[in-house]
Amino acid sequence: MSSDGARVANILLIPGDGVGPEVIREARRVLEWLCGNRGLKVRVGERNMGIGEYERTGSLMSDEAFADAMAADAILFGAFGGPGREKVPHEHILDRGLLGLRRHLDLFANLRPIKTLESLSDTSPMKPEVARGTDFVIVRELTSGVYYGEPRGIETLSDGSEKGTDTQAYTTGEIERIARVAFALAARRGGRVCSVDKANVMKSGVLWRRVVTRLATEEFPGIVLDHMYADNCAMQLIIRPTQFDVILTDNLFGDVLSDGAAAIVGSLGMLPSASLGPEGADGTRKALYEPVHGTAPDLTGKNAANPVGAILSLAMALRYSLGRPEDADLVEDAVDRTIAAGVRTQDIAGSTHTPVSTPEFGGAVLAELDRGIGKV
Ligand code: NAD
Ligand code: IPM
Ligand code: MN
Repeated sequence: MSSDGARVANILLIPGDGVGPEVIREARRVLEWLCGNRGLKVRVGERNMGIGEYERTGSLMSDEAFADAMAADAILFGAFGGPGREKVPHEHILDRGLLGLRRHLDLFANLRPIKTLESLSDTSPMKPEVARGTDFVIVRELTSGVYYGEPRGIETLSDGSEKGTDTQAYTTGEIERIARVAFALAARRGGRVCSVDKANVMKSGVLWRRVVTRLATEEFPGIVLDHMYADNCAMQLIIRPTQFDVILTDNLFGDVLSDGAAAIVGSLGMLPSASLGPEGADGTRKALYEPVHGTAPDLTGKNAANPVGAILSLAMALRYSLGRPEDADLVEDAVDRTIAAGVRTQDIAGSTHTPVSTPEFGGAVLAELDRGIGKV
């Protein structure tokens, strides 16, 4: 409890592997700035999970860390994976790795906002006239589909060769609940949902399309719903990204399409995400916030990673878990102004800017926050 009797939220930082600790350190500085300057009251804990932890202890995550993660109001996560991952049994990853956290917390709704910054048009790989004005959200189903479907495994056949199996499966209820998230989000934005599947080849896709179509008619008649095959969507993202408002898709297509969408913004290091659970009776929901990127083994230990995805993930936590939309605006604004001022990590520096280090970028965001006090 805080002195005014309000319940203090628990935020758990889990830096993870690779560049995870480097980018979460910068997000933590922003969080501490908000506590110091904006009266934000939160209890901040830190635990670890990942390959490094596994190599040290034989477990991806200690029981204590797991219990803290289950109890947290919001988790801010760095990255999972990288060298050594192949030594960890897949069942253990499904239980105690990132996939385990997603499943145990029932974080079925993964929101990945894709928004271009005008200030990055000089270094983006896209033509400015194509990328300009891009502003959509990928709503990715996160706790089912081929990531978790059974049977799964590698078996030896009678001729000595091997067979690898994964199962793509979705139930009506799983499709309905993620579709409701997408439709409700679209209702607060541009009113359009593009549902992406492979109904032309997959039975799970046929069901996906049928359920999404029925739900739109029954519950969201005001929303304009289109369907698109995933392969076409990959191309449409590149040739006309401004056509999208909300993209609704499954676990695997959402994973692949979001990395593709990162190129529109300019770098994978720029994208944040929120993974949300179902709303409880008290109106709260479990949540994990993480940049979309991975451990970036090529950058690890070089202080060169872009921390924007992690810092904007904190902004999403402020918005969705902490009831602090004005602080979220403040952070997003400070990041925009930092980049517009020409402060760039190497991935967004192009040939026109001298790259700064990860902590230098974080420091520049704090300086912008200092300048912006009272503006929002
Ligand atoms: P990756 O996202 O780590 O890297 C892909 C490319 O993007 C690399 O060129 C990297 O340098 C660049 N990049 C990534 N993050 C960046 C940042 N913050 N700033 C600047 N550039 C950045 O993907 P990968 O190389 O395919 O995978 C490496 C490991 O990360 C794998 O083990 C993979 O499973 C894991 N991974 C984890 C997550 C996660 O934790 N959510 C996401 C994706 C991949
Ligand atoms: C992501 C990542 C993860 C995924 C990996 C690390 C399991 O690529 O969050 O996009 O595939 O979901
Ligand atoms: Mn991914």
